[in-house]
Amino acid sequence: MSIRNISCLYFWGILFFAAACGSAAEENARRAAAAAQNPDSKLVPDGMAVFRQKCVTCHGADGALGLNGAKNLSLSTLTLEERINIITNGKKLMTPFGTLLSPEEIKAVAEYTQTFKK
Ligand code: HEC
Repeated sequence: MSIRNISCLYFWGILFFAAACGSAAEENARRAAAAAQNPDSKLVPDGMAVFRQKCVTCHGADGALGLNGAKNLSLSTLTLEERINIITNGKKLMTPFGTLLSPEEIKAVAEYTQTFKK
């Protein structure tokens, strides 16, 4: 086995270890390693993808569904910081996403909610 193959195995070993432990710092290290491996991979999370996964159940794909007392996001006048705060901490029936999403994902999805405004 060549030196190159051994260092490659070492790299994946570390990656596996980091993924298995999954703390925020290790997650960041894993992402950085993945980005270094693949320069095309996006470091900035996709706000639309997060929204489709976590938010459409109450807010709908266009932000206006309003289930469970959800606010119509196309009418929202909140600033980015206020949105990040509500998404992180929740409000009334809205789930707090602070432990479910990374701060980068929360910011990305908060920015995405601003695109509903007509
Ligand atoms: C379980 C239902 C539910 C889910 C899932 C949900 N929300 Fe909400 N959301 C609500 C409710 C209810 C409110 C209104 C809270 C209030 O009365 O101020 C709200 C309010 C908001 C507001 C504030 C709007 C305003 O103008 O006051 C934002 C921004 C928001 N949600 C974004 C999101 C995002 C982003 C996600 C996904 C990460 C999400 N929500 C997932 C129920 C939900």
